[in-house]
Amino acid sequence: MAKLVRFGMSLEEELLAQFDRHIQKKKYTNRSEAIRDLIRDDLVKQEWRDNKEVTGAITLVYDHHLRELVNKILDIQHDDHTCIVSTQHIHLDHHHCFEIIVTKGKSRNIEGLYQKLKSIKGVKHAGFTKATLGNDLS
Ligand code: NI
Repeated sequence: MAKLVRFGMSLEEELLAQFDRHIQKKKYTNRSEAIRDLIRDDLVKQEWRDNKEVTGAITLVYDHHLRELVNKILDIQHDDHTCIVSTQHIHLDHHHCFEIIVTKGKSRNIEGLYQKLKSIKGVKHAGFTKATLGNDLS
């Protein structure tokens, strides 16, 4: 386990009260864990800005009856196959499909893949979760 260091911090009383209300809603039991998560989130955002090797998940909801749309989704995934680890396809109902594309690679390539998929006409919803490989985080 990493060595823990205590440090003091000054901030406006009302801002601290706001933070305490906020983390209570998010079910944190103490400020330290909430602050750790904020720091980690920011470090992960920086990894993505710095075009580091990262991981993430892209989700798509679309109607598979639009054949042209399905072909485009497949073509784009084959073009960018080097940053795709796996794809899971779920048939939601008679019309709709839910696809989860797990990615790993340079952040710029993954962002590019997401933008290409999201902008296809007929995609009803596209989601994007940016994560880290964890190597640069404590
Ligand atoms: Ni389907």
